Amino acid sequence: MFDKISKLECVKQARQGKVRDIYDLGDRLLLVTSDRISAFDVVFDQPIKDKGIILNKIAVSIFKATSHIVDNHLISSEVKDYPQELHEFKDYLEGRSMLVQKTRVIPFECIVRGYISGSAYGEYINKGTVGGKVIPNEMKESQKFDSPMFTPSTKAEEGHDVNISYRTMKAHMDTWIAEFLKDKSLQLYHFGHDMLLKKGIILADTKFEFGSYQGKIMLIDEALTPDSSRFWPVDDYEVGISPPSYDKQFIRNYLLNIGWDKQPPAPELPEDVIAQTRDKYLQIYKIITGETL
Ligand SMILES: Nc1ncnc2c1ncn2[C@@H]1O[C@H](COP(=O)(O)OP(=O)(O)OP(=O)(O)O)[C@@H](O)[C@H]1O
Ligand SMILES: [Mg+2]
Repeated sequence: MFDKISKLECVKQARQGKVRDIYDLGDRLLLVTSDRISAFDVVFDQPIKDKGIILNKIAVSIFKATSHIVDNHLISSEVKDYPQELHEFKDYLEGRSMLVQKTRVIPFECIVRGYISGSAYGEYINKGTVGGKVIPNEMKESQKFDSPMFTPSTKAEEGHDVNISYRTMKAHMDTWIAEFLKDKSLQLYHFGHDMLLKKGIILADTKFEFGSYQGKIMLIDEALTPDSSRFWPVDDYEVGISPPSYDKQFIRNYLLNIGWDKQPPAPELPEDVIAQTRDKYLQIYKIITGETL
C-alpha cells in the first residue's frame, strides 16, 4: 500500500494522519483513507483489508445525507472529477478517497454522547460529572442520557486528546461559533441516532470535526464511521454492561488482555483478531449503506 501512496508523487503529500493520507491540491485536499488501524492512539503495522474503503464510503454517504443540516467539505468522491494528474491512480483511489475543500481545522473534537460509556462513564464514576457537568441522577453504565450531551475535547497536535467542558471550549472562540458547533453536532447526532435505530443499531456516541473556509464553518474529516462512533447492536443492548461495539473492540480487548502498556511500538496482532475486526467493519458497512463491497 505504501508503494501505491508514494506513486502519487505528482501531488504534494501534506501529511499523514493515523489513518488518512492527506494530499495538498492548493485550496482543496485529496483525503485517502488507508487500511491502517490505530488503538489507544498507536498505529499498528498490520492493515485491516478494505477498512479504508469502508470508512470512506460510509463518510461520503453521511456527508451527502446530512448536507441539509450543515455544509460539509465533500466536493467529489469520483476520480473522474479529480485533477487530471490523479486519473492514472483510479484503481487505487476509487472508493477510498475524496476530494474536499481545504479548511482551517477548528482544533476541538465535537463529541456527542447519547449514552454514558467509555471515558464519560469513567469521569462520572470518579467525579460525578460528564464533560465537567454535574450529573445528579444515579446512572448505570451504558444508560441513556435524558438528552444527548455535547462533550468536546481538544484536538491535540501530539499525544492524547483532552476532554474539556463546553464552557472551556467557548472561552477559545466567539460565542456564536461555539453555539454553532454544539447545535450542529447535536443535530447530526440526532440524525444518525434515528437513522441507525431503524437499522437495529444504537449510536451511543460519536465525534465530529469542523473547519472554516472563507468565514463559513463546515463539517470535515469523517462522519458516523466506526472509527469515530460507538455503535451497539440493539439486540445486545443492556444497561449495566458495556455492549459489544462495531469497531476496534476486539483489538482493544486483546491489548488489554496481554497487558500492553499502550506505548509504541504496537505489538503484533494475531490473525484471528485481525479477521474478526475486519468482519465487524464489513458488517457495519452493510448495515449502514445496505451494500456489500
Ligand atoms: N477539509 C479538511 N480541511 C483540513 N483538514 C482536514 C479536512 N478534513 C480532514 N482534515 C484533517 O485531516 C486529518 C485526517 O487524518 P486522520 O483521520 O488520519 O487523522 P488522525 O490521526 O485521526 O488525527 P490527527 O492526525 O489530526 O491527530 C485530520 O487531522 C483532520 O483534522
Ligand atoms: Mg481521524
